[in-house]
Amino acid sequence: MKVLSSPEEIYAQLDFLRRQGNRIGLVPTMGALHDGHLSLVREAKRECDIAVTTIFVNPSQFGPNEDFAKYPRTLDSDLEQLSAIGCDFVFVPSNDHIYPPGHTTFIEPPAVAANWEGKIRPGHFRGVATIVLKLFNMLPARVAYFGRKDYQQVAVISAMVRDLNVPILIQPCETVREPDGLAMSSRNRYLSAADRVRAIGLWHALSKAQSMIDDGFRNVAQIESAMREILNKVPVDSIDYAAIVDPESMEPRTDLDSPVVAIIAARVGTTRLIDNSLLRIQ
Ligand code: PAF
Repeated sequence: MKVLSSPEEIYAQLDFLRRQGNRIGLVPTMGALHDGHLSLVREAKRECDIAVTTIFVNPSQFGPNEDFAKYPRTLDSDLEQLSAIGCDFVFVPSNDHIYPPGHTTFIEPPAVAANWEGKIRPGHFRGVATIVLKLFNMLPARVAYFGRKDYQQVAVISAMVRDLNVPILIQPCETVREPDGLAMSSRNRYLSAADRVRAIGLWHALSKAQSMIDDGFRNVAQIESAMREILNKVPVDSIDYAAIVDPESMEPRTDLDSPVVAIIAARVGTTRLIDNSLLRIQ
């Protein structure tokens, strides 16, 4: 496994491999890797000749009062895990490699970024879209793998790639869950033992939405309020949203005539968690 930090060096090596006919799969991450990330790398290994993981805690996607400074940084263990599953390249740039002095260009995110995370975390998707496009330009991959846990992020990146004609395929991958249903996230390590027990409330609320639909409920407002009821009963400390939205536009939905996604963001202790579930409509 090669670990490189210079954009010029990794571009040269990947470009050479690509020209020889290798299919390159890219997994952008901010490190603090867990099984969710590793499943993306395994998928890249399965579908491609070369798997590349990036590790960069991107400052431009964190708001001034968010957890950039304390975001977990576990490079040694990340590299060990990636090497163990046969990742071929790891790109670990410095801040200056990504944002050298004088860097002033940022991506205006697409419309699908406007609500939910985009509203609650102003500037977040501008930072995500910018770093992801920069990584796509630095690392000439054919496919990029992203976890569906960050559902809106995948929608934003897919729309950006479509709108800006970026020559890469976006491959969303299933959320990996703990045995009790909690979605794996680097931020789960912030949870105290008591908060970890409460965090499962998000999955219970999402499961409730599915079971209501399976039981024939078709009133979206009723389902949303049942989701909130579960979160309040846990209780979580605050709810940013618990909504049923269109899987493409992420606009609120009032009908269940075609598939929808239930999305939740809630704070448990000091940790902000997000999760979602694509709901089956019989
Ligand atoms: O999902 C993440 O870890 C980050 O938002 C990403 C896509 C690596 C961009 O920094």
